[in-house]
Amino acid sequence: MTTTLLTGIGTLVTGDPGVGEGPLGVLRSAAVVFDGPRVAWVGAAAAAPAADVARDLGGAALLPGFVESHSHLVFDGDRAEEFAARMAGRPYAAGGIRTTIAATRAASDERLAGTVAKLVREYRRSGATTVEIKSGYGQTVSDELRSVQIAGRFTDEVTLLAAHVPPPEYAGRADEYVELVCREMIPACAPHAKWIDVFCDRGAFDAEQSRAVLEAGAAHGLIPRVHGNQLGTGPGVRLAVELGAASVDHVTHVTDADVDALAGSGTVATLLPGAEFSTRSSYPDARKLIDAGVTVALGADCNPGTSYTTSLPFCIALAVRDLGMTPDEAVWAATVGGARALRRTDIGTLRVGARADAVVLDAPSYLHLAYRPGVPLVRDVYVGGVLA
Ligand code: NIG
Ligand code: FE
Repeated sequence: MTTTLLTGIGTLVTGDPGVGEGPLGVLRSAAVVFDGPRVAWVGAAAAAPAADVARDLGGAALLPGFVESHSHLVFDGDRAEEFAARMAGRPYAAGGIRTTIAATRAASDERLAGTVAKLVREYRRSGATTVEIKSGYGQTVSDELRSVQIAGRFTDEVTLLAAHVPPPEYAGRADEYVELVCREMIPACAPHAKWIDVFCDRGAFDAEQSRAVLEAGAAHGLIPRVHGNQLGTGPGVRLAVELGAASVDHVTHVTDADVDALAGSGTVATLLPGAEFSTRSSYPDARKLIDAGVTVALGADCNPGTSYTTSLPFCIALAVRDLGMTPDEAVWAATVGGARALRRTDIGTLRVGARADAVVLDAPSYLHLAYRPGVPLVRDVYVGGVLA
C-alpha cells in the first residue's frame, strides 16, 4: 500500500482532543501520514516519518472530511417556484413534499440515479466525504424500495424515510398509510437500509404513528432516527430519546423539557440551518443545546423543498452567524458530530486508524470556513487516502 506524507499543514484539525488543542484537537505546523485508506501517523512536521509520496500543502489547513448525516437526494423535479413564493411571504408547509413525490414516482431509475450522482459530486466538491441518503419521495412500497436501492449505490448510510408525509392517495387516512409502511414497506426495504426515519411534525405524522413506524423498523433491524420539532414544538424529540434514536434532526422548536431529555441521552441533535434559511424561519438555538450538554451535529439537509444546498461550509457559516455557535463548535458539529449522529468512530476525525478522509482548504485555518462565507475554500478532498 502507498504511504502519503502531507507536510506544510498550517492548521490541522485532528478532531481528537487527546492529540491537540481544544475539542477539535488542533495542531499547528503539523504533518499527517496516510497508509492506503487509513491515517497512520499524526504529529509535528519536524518529527514526521518518511513516506512513498510527500506533498507540501504550503501552509493550508487540513481537516477531516465533513460528515453529512442528513440528505434527501433521491428525487426528481425542483421547487424553485415554491421557494420564490415563500420569499414573497407564503409560509412553508409539509404538504409541498407531495409535489416532489409526484415527480419522483414518474422518473426512471436511471434519471433518479443520475441526480443522486450529481448531488453526491457536489457534496464531495464542498468537502463532504460521507453522505447519508434518505428515501422518502416514493411513499409506495415499490418507489421506496427503488429509492433505497438507488441510494445504496452511493452510500452505506441508507435511511428508509418510509413515513415522510401521507401520500395523496392516503389523504385523510394516515393510519392506513402507517399500516402499509409497517406491514409491507419496512419488510421489503429493510434489507437495503441501515436506518429508519419518520417525519414527526405538524402536517406529517403524530407521536403514535411515528412510534409505530420506528418500532416496526427496529423490529426489522433498522436503527431509528427522527425528523422532529422542525415546524413547531411537539413529540419528536422526546420520542427519539425514548426510543434511543441515533439522532433527532431539525430540533428548531424545543421546550426546556426537550432540551433536558436530549442532554441526558445518547441521541444527537442534528441542526439543519439550510432549512431555516430557505424557509425564512427562525433558527434553532444551538447555544442553548450545547450549553445544556447536548451533542450537536450539523447537516446540509439537501432536498428540493426546504434546503437545496450541498454545502456544509455554507451551513457552518450559518451556524456561527445565526445559531450562536463558535467556529470551533460548528466545525466539530460538521465532522465529529456528524459521525456521532451516524454512530461511526472511523470518520469525522483524523486520528490514527481513522479513514483518510480529509479536506485541504485554500486558507491557513478552519476559521476561514465561517470567516469567508460563500467562498469556495475547499481546494482538495481525500477520500480513503486518494485525491478525489
Ligand atoms: O428535512 N422535514 C421534512 N423533510 C425535508 C423537507 C422535505 C421537502 O419539503 O421536500 C426536510 O426539511
Ligand atoms: Fe430532512
